[in-house]
Amino acid sequence: MSSYSRILLNTVALVPGATSLPPIRSLLKRRVATQGTKSAVYCYGVWLRHLVMAAGCRLDSNPAAVAELGPGDSLGTGLAALLCGAQRYTALDAAPYANPQANAKIFDELVELFRARAPIPNRDEYLAVKPRLEDYAFPHHVLGVARLERALRPERLERIRGAILGEHADPRTPMIRYRAPWQEANVIEPASQDLVFSQAVLEHVDALREAYAAMRAWLKPGGYLSHQIDFKSHGYAPTWDGHWRYGDFVWRLVRGPASWFINRQPYSAHQRLLAASGFRIVHEQRARSVPSFARGALARRFRGMPEADRETSGVYILAVPARA
Ligand SMILES: C[S@@+](CC[C@H](N)C(=O)[O-])C[C@H]1O[C@@H](n2cnc3c(N)ncnc32)[C@H](O)[C@@H]1O
Repeated sequence: MSSYSRILLNTVALVPGATSLPPIRSLLKRRVATQGTKSAVYCYGVWLRHLVMAAGCRLDSNPAAVAELGPGDSLGTGLAALLCGAQRYTALDAAPYANPQANAKIFDELVELFRARAPIPNRDEYLAVKPRLEDYAFPHHVLGVARLERALRPERLERIRGAILGEHADPRTPMIRYRAPWQEANVIEPASQDLVFSQAVLEHVDALREAYAAMRAWLKPGGYLSHQIDFKSHGYAPTWDGHWRYGDFVWRLVRGPASWFINRQPYSAHQRLLAASGFRIVHEQRARSVPSFARGALARRFRGMPEADRETSGVYILAVPARA
């Protein structure tokens, strides 16, 4: 749906009683976006991208406790982490999009992909998935024979399957936790996670400062963040950077009553918040795009945007707690 249709629909929805009319209700319902994690191949590729990038920067490539923000339609990306040997996976989302049946199906497909040591998908619909890697062959250097054999033992697979279906051997230490929605940082114990990651999520989080502070609290010493962030307009403006042209009033109409949307924060905002929350960036991979309009057309709140932000359409970052 274009930004103009959204503005129209959201303006109509403001009229008292309009949202109870069936056509308006169904239009509002229809625009709830579906997420990519319905596909096991996508989840496999996303997890292996994060793992390979971390290994390339000599960060822990066998994290035991892994947390993910915004898994979307399934927990598949975190299930891929468990299939590589992680012991605990915690997923936090804005709403409960995933369900145990879909997760179980994706899990079975993931097991086959790991057994086959399938290459990391990077063609057709996966061409645009980031971060970009130098090599898309199966990462034998990270997932050696012994590690994968241990991780894919039949009794371990049964345990993960049980956890997917909500059966926990010891409910005090569940292998999988899913909190959706989540609000407070105390949803995860302090200093308990080796890795916190996300894919195409941090551009949607409204309370970004709080989210980074929470991530800092969750990480163990030696833990790290791995995030892929997309700064483009997600189709809510005619050009990739057009969302930075809208003033606050129009943007409120584009957003409407959505419980989460895009936060329009450019890369420098993430850099600032990372530093303020006590992180040091150890690696970044920026996607650059040519600005589609002159600086003078930026909305007032973005006038001071650094030139580098204007051409940063996405970024992959690895960050670690900064030394005190
Ligand atoms: C574009 S989807 C990405 C889903 C998935 N990570 C993928 O790779 O396809 C954005 C996700 O961010 C989630 N999200 C939005 N705000 C969030 C928040 N404050 N905390 C956690 N997740 C959030 C949404 O619910 C949704 O699942």
